[in-house]
Amino acid sequence: MKPARKLLIGSNLKMYKTIVETMVYLTQLQKLTTDLSRDDISVFIIPSYTSLPAASKIMGGVLQLGAQNMSWEESGQFTGEISPVMLKELNLDIVEIGHSERRHVFGETDQDENKKVLAALNHGFTALLCIGETASDTELGISVEKLRIQLKVGLRGVHADLIDHLWIAYEPVWAIGVNGVPASPEYASNMHAKIHETLVEIFPEHNNNIPILYGGSVTQQNCNELIVQPFIDGLFIGRAAWNADDMNAIIRKVLPLWQKK
Ligand code: PGA
Repeated sequence: MKPARKLLIGSNLKMYKTIVETMVYLTQLQKLTTDLSRDDISVFIIPSYTSLPAASKIMGGVLQLGAQNMSWEESGQFTGEISPVMLKELNLDIVEIGHSERRHVFGETDQDENKKVLAALNHGFTALLCIGETASDTELGISVEKLRIQLKVGLRGVHADLIDHLWIAYEPVWAIGVNGVPASPEYASNMHAKIHETLVEIFPEHNNNIPILYGGSVTQQNCNELIVQPFIDGLFIGRAAWNADDMNAIIRKVLPLWQKK
C-alpha cells in the first residue's frame, strides 16, 4: 500500500563543492530523476550559500533546495550571518537547523536552534531541525533524554499551525562523517519511535505528521534496511550522496520499499 506521505531523501553538501561543481551535480541529478513524481518523493539538496543563487534558477521536478544555516535576526550588526529575508530572495524551500557540526564545531545551543526554527517557520520555510546524541550520551545511557531536550527546547513556541513545515533529522553524532559508525536499523528505529512519542507529547493535536529522517553514514548498502523501519520517513545523506549517480542509486533502491511500506 502506498504511504500517505511522500518519501524525503536529501543531502547536505557541507563545505564541499564549488558553485561549478554544485551545478554539475544538480544538473546530473535533475536529468536522472525526471521520471519521478513530486507526489511520491522530494529530493532535497543543501549546498553552500555561494551556490544557492545559481542553484535556485535550475531547481524543479522532484528537486528542492535548502540552506545549511540561517540567522534568526532579519538584519543588523551580525557580520558573517545570513538572514531569513536574504534567503527569501532565493527560491529556497528548506532551512537546515542545528546540524551536528553547527552544534559541536560552532557551539550552537538548543536555544539558538529554537530561535532559528521559529524564524524559519515564520518566514515560510520548511525547518529541518537536526538532533542527535553524542557517543558520551550513549555511554551514559542518556540518549533518549538528550533527544527529548533537543526537541522540547528546539521546538518551544512552535505554533501547531506551522508544523506541516517541520521536518526532523535524527543523526547520532557518532554515526556522522568519515569516522562515523552507522546506527543499526533496530537502534535507529527505536530512537525514531522515541522521537515520534516526544513529538506527540509536544504537539498532542497533530501527532502523526512530522517526518523523521535518519542520517549518519547512510550508504547504498544500508539504505534498504533503514527505510523499511517504522517511523523512518526519509534519509538524510552526506558522503554517499555527493555523486549524482550514487544518490540516484539510493533513490531507486528505497522508493519502491517506501511505497510498499
Ligand atoms: P554522512 O553525513 O552521511 O557523511 O555520515 C551525514 C550528515 O552529516 O548529515
